Amino acid sequence: MVEKKNYKLAVIPGDGIGIEVVDSGLKVLRYLADHSDGKFDFETDYFPWGCEYYLENGEMMEKDGLEKIKNHDAIYFGAVGFPGVPDHVSLWGLRIAICQGFDQWANIRPVEFLPNVESKLNHPNVKDLDWVLIRENSEGEYSGIGGRNFTGRGPGNEVAVQSSLFTEKGCERIIRYAFETARQRKRKKVTSVTKSNAQQYGMVLWDEVFERVSKDYPDVETDKWLIDAMAAQFVLHPEELEVVVASNLLADILSDLGSALAGSLGIAASANLNPDHHYPSMFESVHGSAPDIAGKGIANPIGAIGSAALMLEHLGLKEEADLVNQAIKEATSKGYLTADIGGNTQTSEMTDAIINELANIKVKA
Ligand code: NAI
Ligand code: MG
Repeated sequence: MVEKKNYKLAVIPGDGIGIEVVDSGLKVLRYLADHSDGKFDFETDYFPWGCEYYLENGEMMEKDGLEKIKNHDAIYFGAVGFPGVPDHVSLWGLRIAICQGFDQWANIRPVEFLPNVESKLNHPNVKDLDWVLIRENSEGEYSGIGGRNFTGRGPGNEVAVQSSLFTEKGCERIIRYAFETARQRKRKKVTSVTKSNAQQYGMVLWDEVFERVSKDYPDVETDKWLIDAMAAQFVLHPEELEVVVASNLLADILSDLGSALAGSLGIAASANLNPDHHYPSMFESVHGSAPDIAGKGIANPIGAIGSAALMLEHLGLKEEADLVNQAIKEATSKGYLTADIGGNTQTSEMTDAIINELANIKVKA
């Protein structure tokens, strides 16, 4: 008999709707584990870190927070940020602290179009579209290098410096990752996005590395764009997109654009990977804590559930991950749609609908 695998997950719900959608994702995982015929199980350790924690303790997570979660198999994350705590404090104190502390240098953000969800794209073949953004997640514009001069120059004269960091090694590993990803896709193509006409140091280094690495992948088509033109390309010719690789900031922006085009920010999943497996990887929806709808029970859980699927895949449970993605599609095609995608299904109903579809798919199989 194959031994049952038992995974240990660190769960950080965070703030706002992060808490609500993480709950949905865990319900889906629980259902799968309970019906896996003994193939896998998981246990969860909850960490109450986030803005509320900050207001009580003066920090976003415990001082030895990273130490506490470094031996877990994966981290399942909601979102951080809430009015009352400056966004840069909450983001740097938790999400970026984990991504950078655990060298989760590859942020994978698939853009998928779901049945029955109205796309914002006017495109003849919208049903056939899907692409994946590969975001550099350890340096670039989010390197945190800079400073502010508060004094000495008088009111109205403050100066701030914010530097981007591009290392040859950092560029190379993410670009290689993109090429490896492309080899697994139906169309083998990588599109690199920069702003190297205006950013003449870091992004020119990126371009040179892209050029060099591409020579190792003669079977993969390449394409190069500047970010402004690429924003237009997302809308005008999305059929040209397969694997898109970009720096931390640029891919962050493009991923919100991609998920909005697919219908809503609420449906986008993401994985922050440490592909070297030295540290746990972290799985979270692309959206933030959405204070405007928090506590109303109407948040779309699809992004978080899709992120749970990415986590399953990362843990070696590819079949289960595919099941989850299929169940999401079945649920939307049957008309289960939360408010952000044009319906009035509540978060909990959407979650139940997806679990119900998991059961249906299993019975059919
Ligand atoms: P946001 O993604 O939280 O919300 C943007 C808009 O999309 C809002 O109108 C919201 O209601 C809607 N939305 C987002 N997710 C949704 C879902 N699942 N279902 C239905 N509607 C959804 O971005 P915003 O408003 O810029 O940021 C809010 C807070 O979240 C800030 O504190 C920000 O710093 C933080 N944030 C955190 C992130 C993270 O933890 N990874 C990522 C982005 C923002
Ligand atoms: Mg973002």
